[in-house]
Amino acid sequence: MKIFEKIEIKNLKLKNRIVMPPMCMYTAEEDGFVTPWHVNHYTTRAVGGVGLIMVEATAVEPSGRISANDLGIWSEDHIEGLKKIVDSVHQNGGKIGIQLAHAGRKSDSLKDEIYGPSPIRFNDDYRLPKEMTVEDIKRVKNNFKEAAARAEKAGFDLIEIHGAHGYLINEFISPLTNKREDEYGGSLENRSRFLKEILEEVVQVWPKEKPITLRVSSLEYSEKGNTSEDIADIINHVKESGVDIVNVSSGGVIYTKINPYPGYQIEPARIIKEKTNLPVMAGGLVTDWQLAEEIIKNKRGDMVYMGRKLLRDPYFVINASHQLGIDYPWPKQYERARI
Ligand SMILES: Cc1cc2nc3c(=O)[nH]c(=O)nc-3n(C[C@H](O)[C@H](O)[C@H](O)COP(=O)(O)O)c2cc1C
Repeated sequence: MKIFEKIEIKNLKLKNRIVMPPMCMYTAEEDGFVTPWHVNHYTTRAVGGVGLIMVEATAVEPSGRISANDLGIWSEDHIEGLKKIVDSVHQNGGKIGIQLAHAGRKSDSLKDEIYGPSPIRFNDDYRLPKEMTVEDIKRVKNNFKEAAARAEKAGFDLIEIHGAHGYLINEFISPLTNKREDEYGGSLENRSRFLKEILEEVVQVWPKEKPITLRVSSLEYSEKGNTSEDIADIINHVKESGVDIVNVSSGGVIYTKINPYPGYQIEPARIIKEKTNLPVMAGGLVTDWQLAEEIIKNKRGDMVYMGRKLLRDPYFVINASHQLGIDYPWPKQYERARI
């Protein structure tokens, strides 16, 4: 079975191809600190045999939170709680990354000013973002760098830069949300500059032997938005600055309804994999091992993420191994349940 094959990217060695993607738990207090819920939640997926576990969108500055209850990594004080998650996942045989995020114009953090490449609100329920000055851009780049250094101190195996779902980096990348006339807007190269410069900062502090993933929205669900091919071009433009894996998602850039179905983001993942030649995490409404296996076998992705499925069923991986008769290590405490 392909989903149970090991994979190695830089010094990250995964025991299988199933990934839990970042999913906000909206459970931190307003200070962004880790709670016992977070430690239990991520550890449970490690016990369940998930190969790679990604910690939810974690804000690099307070105004970069999606909600007031997001996790934060904007101070040294945040390291201790994050390290508890990392240590616990490692003790239970899992590998763990963290998604470093800035919500941009989609921040719902009411106390702080909110920022975007251009002063356009997401919809009437959202506030008007401040058009970022070059000083603001410098500050956010530096906050990503400091966040990466803290992620390393906490012991994470990889970091993910959140470039998807219409949050700040995605707002710069997309022609739908970036109307700037300076060197950060206009051409594909200019719209990619903010992302490229963030990567250049991050690699100064993130160890070279540990991978960096980039999450992208491969479809913007608008004729005037980026296509999967455009996103692949953007990745090709920035990848030398430090992208080792692409995590392919879609949507969130504009306010519109989409109609997801099992595997709806797999063709974009295939396009991005083929055009960038980078390992890809693919997913979106994947809820069984059959579709996961198909994606990897047909080389439409190198790893498969399962979000909501793993919320419902944290033991999916060990259960699947059992059903399939695969000799796969179970937590020793649960060996007697393997009947
Ligand atoms: C509760 C919840 C929170 C989410 N939070 C994040 C997040 O923090 N960062 C992110 O990139 N995607 C987030 N997502 C999207 C998931 O990572 C995933 O892409 C999406 O759920 C589709 O995969 P699935 O159909 O397997 O659930 C979230 C999804 C859910 C259900």
